[in-house]
Amino acid sequence: MTAPVLPADSPDAIARAAALLREGGLVAMPTETVYGLAADASNAVAVARLYAAKGRPRFNPLIAHVAGIEMAKRLVEWPALADELARAFWPGPLTLVLPKLKAAPICDLANAGLDSVAIRAPGHAAAQALLAAFGGPLVAPSANPSGGVSPTTASHVSDGLGDRLDLILDGGACTVGVESTVIAILDGRATLLRPGGLERSRIEAITGPLAIAGHSEAPTSPGMLASHYAPTATMRLNATQARDGEVLLGFGAIQGDLNLSASGDLAEAAAKLFAALRQLDASGPKSIAVAPIPDEGLGEAINDRLQRAAAPRD
Ligand code: TXA
Ligand code: MG
Repeated sequence: MTAPVLPADSPDAIARAAALLREGGLVAMPTETVYGLAADASNAVAVARLYAAKGRPRFNPLIAHVAGIEMAKRLVEWPALADELARAFWPGPLTLVLPKLKAAPICDLANAGLDSVAIRAPGHAAAQALLAAFGGPLVAPSANPSGGVSPTTASHVSDGLGDRLDLILDGGACTVGVESTVIAILDGRATLLRPGGLERSRIEAITGPLAIAGHSEAPTSPGMLASHYAPTATMRLNATQARDGEVLLGFGAIQGDLNLSASGDLAEAAAKLFAALRQLDASGPKSIAVAPIPDEGLGEAINDRLQRAAAPRD
């Protein structure tokens, strides 16, 4: 049976979603980045169900979504730098990894038993309404089977996980389109763990130059290098034209079969990226070739996702 889809701007739908979460259910919620698969962060049974629904490795910890700074402070240590970043960019596409408080209502399974927790206040009105109705932190990875293309519409969610969750809140297409930027603030030092929907330069204006997480398989940020975001077709990057059996995802002057942004706007390209990969993949090509994307601003996050989509698969 596939889960019901309710409009995310309906107060009844939000109340229903909060009730399901309290009972240990799984609810897909829209955020400004991608759709998240939400569960009660304190409920180990619900979180175990979430990992199983996604087929996600348990050593890959989840982000706890909070309404804002006040809720965050109940979960993690809150150094001045975290406060400055949260005041500048929350609610929004910035995740902060901080030392976990012992009393935090987050089960060990949710943060893979680490001493730290990733926290984010999402910018979508429906996510905020759900957090307010629920009244506590919600863990939410992207609402897709692990390793695949992230969902930016409710129908992407129902295509991938519809039979494995309890309710889908439809809040329309995500406006940012790539996941949040993840920054660790540990031992007074800020490190970029994952480029994302908030440009690095905007963060560095506050933190100064960020350290970049080492490119190892070690779970400093386990989502970082392995094959991820992958469509069924193989991927070929920095292509200027399609070869035999390929479709071309264009950018700027390289039109392709589908263009991420004819005007070369990186924000538009980020917002369209995952839907475009799904659309081209659905035509059943051997491979998806992708035009070069400038590695600046949001291009850093787009190229990160493309490189992982193109990485060797098991
Ligand atoms: O935009 C987003 O961040 C979306 C929406 C739904 O909020 N969520 C999302 O979650 O992308 P997920 O689970 O796909 O990515 C979480 C990332 C992973 O790379 C994970 O390894 C990292 O955050 N992470 C979580 N907790 C961590 C921790 N304690 N230390 C280091 N990295 C952590
Ligand atoms: Mg994900």
